[in-house]
This record gives sequence, C-alpha cells and structure tokens, in this order.
Amino acid sequence: MCGIVGYIGTREAYPIIIEGLKRLEYRGYDSAGIALYDGKDLKVSKTKGKVVDLEERSEKEITKHGNVGIGHTRWATHGVPNDVNSHPHISNSGELVIIHNGIIENYESLKKELISRGYTFKSDTDTEVLINLIEDVKRQENVKLGKAVQIALNQVIGAYAIAVFDKNKPEEVVIARLGSPLAIGVGKDDFFIASDASPFLEYTKDAIYLEDEEMAIIRLHKGIKIRKIKDDSLVDPYVQKLQINLEQIEKGGFDHFMLKEIHEQPKAITDTYRGRLLRQEAIIKMAGVEDNMKKFLNADRIIIVACGTSWHAGLVAEYIFEDLARVPVEVEYASEFRYRNPIITEKDVLIAISQSGETADTLAAIKLAKSKGAFVFGVCNVVGSSIARETHAGAYTHAGPEIGVASTKAFTTQITVLTLIALRLARAKGTISSTDFRHHLLELEMIPKKVEEALKSDAHIRKISEIYKEAPNMLYLGRGYNFPVALEGALKLKEISYIHAEGYPAAEMKHGPIALIDENMPIIVIATKKGHYEKVVSNIQEIKSRKGKIIGIVTEGDVQVKELADHVIEVPETLESLSPLLTTIPLQLLSYHIAVMLGKNVDQPRNLAKSVTVE
Ligand code: G6P
Repeated sequence: MCGIVGYIGTREAYPIIIEGLKRLEYRGYDSAGIALYDGKDLKVSKTKGKVVDLEERSEKEITKHGNVGIGHTRWATHGVPNDVNSHPHISNSGELVIIHNGIIENYESLKKELISRGYTFKSDTDTEVLINLIEDVKRQENVKLGKAVQIALNQVIGAYAIAVFDKNKPEEVVIARLGSPLAIGVGKDDFFIASDASPFLEYTKDAIYLEDEEMAIIRLHKGIKIRKIKDDSLVDPYVQKLQINLEQIEKGGFDHFMLKEIHEQPKAITDTYRGRLLRQEAIIKMAGVEDNMKKFLNADRIIIVACGTSWHAGLVAEYIFEDLARVPVEVEYASEFRYRNPIITEKDVLIAISQSGETADTLAAIKLAKSKGAFVFGVCNVVGSSIARETHAGAYTHAGPEIGVASTKAFTTQITVLTLIALRLARAKGTISSTDFRHHLLELEMIPKKVEEALKSDAHIRKISEIYKEAPNMLYLGRGYNFPVALEGALKLKEISYIHAEGYPAAEMKHGPIALIDENMPIIVIATKKGHYEKVVSNIQEIKSRKGKIIGIVTEGDVQVKELADHVIEVPETLESLSPLLTTIPLQLLSYHIAVMLGKNVDQPRNLAKSVTVE
C-alpha cells in the first residue's frame, strides 16, 4: 500500500515524481504529496485526493523546480485521508522530510516519549512520529542522517519503506525497507527510488531491489551504500537488468487498464504455458516442480494460502489437484491461517499464490509455514517480489504487469500455472492416464483461442449490463470447478461497481439465498455442459419459479438453459477442469461494463489497493 517515488540527479525532479506517482496509484490513491528541494529551500505540496489533484494544487503552491525530491500516493492506515495526514511529513525543525509506506506499530509509545521531550505533532500519522524520532536521534547522538535513520529504525516495530532527506544536505537521500518493497533505478548521473520499477523504466533498466532490513544512502555523484539496518554490515549492491518495457504498463488504446488486461488474457495464458507445456513431447517442464519433485510426491497434503482473487484461484486449484493428482488440498485465507495456530508438519507443501508477491498476510503465512519446516512454493506474477524471494521454489505466472486494481489476467494465469503443476504431479504419481494427460495438454493449449472466442461476446454482455446496471444486489451461482468462479464474479462486481454481490455454490442456494430471490434479483448462473449440468438446470428451475432474472453462462450451442434463462452468454466447450478459464471471462466483462455505465473509477475503485502490504 502507498506508492513511493524519489529522484536525485541533474534532471527536473517534479515531472519524474508526478508521472511516477501516477503509475503507482494502484498502490493507493486517497491522498498524494511531493517535497522538492529547489536549490534554496524545501517546498512541500500535499492534498487529499489523487495525483491529478496534487498537480493542480502544487501549481498554485510551489515552484516546481529542483533536482531532488520525494513523492507519495497514500492508502490510509493511521489517520483519515486528509491534507494534513498526507505525506510527505516534515520534522519539527522543518529540516527533515519523509515519505513512508507501511505501519509503525509502536508509534503511540514513541509519540508519547517525543511529546515529553517537547515535540509537537500536526497529523494523526505514525509517519510524523518516525521523522521526529529520526530528528531526535540525529540531535541527541549528533550523527549524520543515515546513522540517525538506522538508530531510529532499530527502535521501531512494524513495516516500512521510507525515503528521507535533509534540506540542509539535499545531495543525499536515505531509504530503507522492512516488509514493503523499494527499488532504486540507477541512471547515468542520477538515481530513482520507487515502490516498483514502473516510475523509472523510461530512464533506466538498471535496478537494485532493496532486501528487507536493508537501508541505502544514495549520494549524488558518489553512488550508493547499502547496509543492514540491524548490524550495520555493508551489502554489495546487486544491479539487475529489467525485462519489462513501457508499453506493458500503458493502456495501449483501451479506455481502462482493466479492459486491456481482460483482452490480454489469450496472450498472458500463452506466455504462462510457453516452454512449460510441450505437447509434442507430451511433457510438462517446470524447473521449480522438477527440482522439488520428492517434496511434492511425499507430501501428505497441499495447503494453499492466498488472499482475494488469488484465493479464488487457490479454490479452483483445490479441485484440480484433488481431481487429477489425488492429493488432499486445503485452501486457506492467509490471514486466518496464520492466526489460528495451524498444524503444519515437514510433510506439508504450502503453495502461496499472489499476483503482487507483496501481500503482507500471505508473506506472514509463508514465514510461519517455513518456521514449521514445510516446503513452500510460490505462484507469483511480479518477478523478484518479496514472496517470490521468500519461498523455497516457485513458478511465475508471466502475465505481465497487472495495473487495474481488480485482478483479471492474474487470475487466469494463476489457474494455468496451477493446472500445469497438478498435471505434472498427476503424471509423476500415475493418477492420470497418458491419453488423458495428452488430452489435457491439447485442451490447455487451445484455451487462449477459446478465450478470444469468449471475448467476442463483449457487445452482447454490454447490452445485458445496460439492463441490470441499477440492480442493488446480484447473486452468482456455480458448482464444482465453477463455484470459485461464481465467488470471483461476485468479487469483481463488488470491487468496481459497488453493487452488493454474493457468490454461492448453486446447490447451497436452497439453504438461504433463495429467500432473496424475487423478480428484481438478477442471478448469474454458470451452467456449462460438463459441470453437473442437469443439477444446475434444476437450480435454474428453482430460481425461475421464484421469478428471479437469470443470466446463464453456458456452453456454445446450449439449448436447455437458453429456454429457461432471460439471457445466456456462450463460451466455447472445454474440459470441465479448464472451464473456469473461460467462464470467468464474461463475468469480468459484465462487471467492467456495469462499473463504466455507473460512472465508477474502474481502475482505482474506492478504498481498495492493488498491493496490500499491511496486515
Ligand atoms: C488486494 C487486491 C486484490 C487481490 C488481493 C491479493 O485486495 O485488490 O485484487 O486479489 O489483494 O493480492 P495478491 O497480490 O496477493 O494476489
């Protein structure tokens, strides 16, 4: 949560920081701010609202000139989103300035202590406490900024990514991380600081990712010194060449990132299985699985932990692993898992699924499982993310950057990776015949083409959206493999249109939700040919007799549901286990169109953030 951008060099810092913040708005967007050193003094502008509001405000408030600066886009934790609580925060002397992503858990006791020493506070934030703590240490110990930051951070409990500078020594920026990501872009005569590499991609492809508990002192013309915060030992900076390019993080002619990402799914799924699914040879090649085959084969069970959409991908995986590889699977919300003293043994394999690779609860669940000796495997999208590094092994989804807050291509590529793993294990365990295995490979290979087909229903879905856009509630039903898709469809609608929606197993409808059904309730029922079709048709009959409005997601050429439903949306036929990859497409489009028609901010829905780095 929260996006951090900084610059120190010879260019104008303002446009770099503003454009960078816009790219990081997926991390939070309830307020934004910037601090610049203009050659003489510190200039700060901040406001509740988005980066465009900051641009408007800074136009009036500051000279947008200077070669050193830091900027922030916020997702509020401590203190409501307002101008005062926005970052940057300045120390009492007016000399030090900070931006912060994370939470300082012991801020109240630190604040009391500082107040007793005469410090005053304008905001309700933990960040203002931290910058004054740094100032206090700097004074008391008579040390330089870097040292003061280090000493202060050793007194802090919590999580952070910070950037700090002193207006009296603006040729130096100090940054540090624990639990929240931070990257340094290394330019020719300058350095960029950001929560991810997107703000500096057009300037440099050389990046250093700070590890947890590391800090860096970045000095103009002098370079970078990285140290461990705890023991002060020096760390050799590892500069990596970034593989992503600018086009991947731009809208490319689409109105929204979400729509672009929905349409990218055929390519994203192909990229996910490329080099792994070798149909001719009838093999699946995944180094992370191959190298740890023993762990997988000896596992008593697989525990899957994730949050949000990734958790739904985990639920789909439960069906696939149990069905194909005959291994017991438990799917857990990462947050619940870690707080209930779970029983974990060395014979467990834990699979952590995360698009961002930064979700705090998932990360904490991984650490817990590791401490109990389990083998931990990561399925992440963001290369080099904290979860990717914290796990023993893993497989990337290769979906490319996902910027829309509502996850789409991450979901389908996660399912693709998990299907490949399940198939590989099934082959190794002999729980799938060679004919069936080949059939699965063939069908999986055809999914991108079929997703393209499913996307062709866009105009039809738009018309359906027009009819139901004012509905206050919607129900999503599915069975078996398509039950998690119903949950995901409901989540998508909630997230971006703010319409209340619930996903239910179709058969469970009778045990409660049926009471909600009347002529005003739209119900989306996933009723594909191979997923308990007859049973779902009976459920549709039950809805029909209560006058609910039925939108059926059906297999191409369906007759029965067409007769009963008010509308149907067709998807191509595939194996039951692969059907979520297709049935989810119309649900994504339905949510998208409804949200657009309601005038909602599709890419940045209220209160949400793409990367949740607080617990
Ligand atoms: C946030 C996002 C969701 C996402 C969830 C898990 O809530 O808004 O879209 O599914 O986090 O994120 P992860 O990056 O771990 O998949």
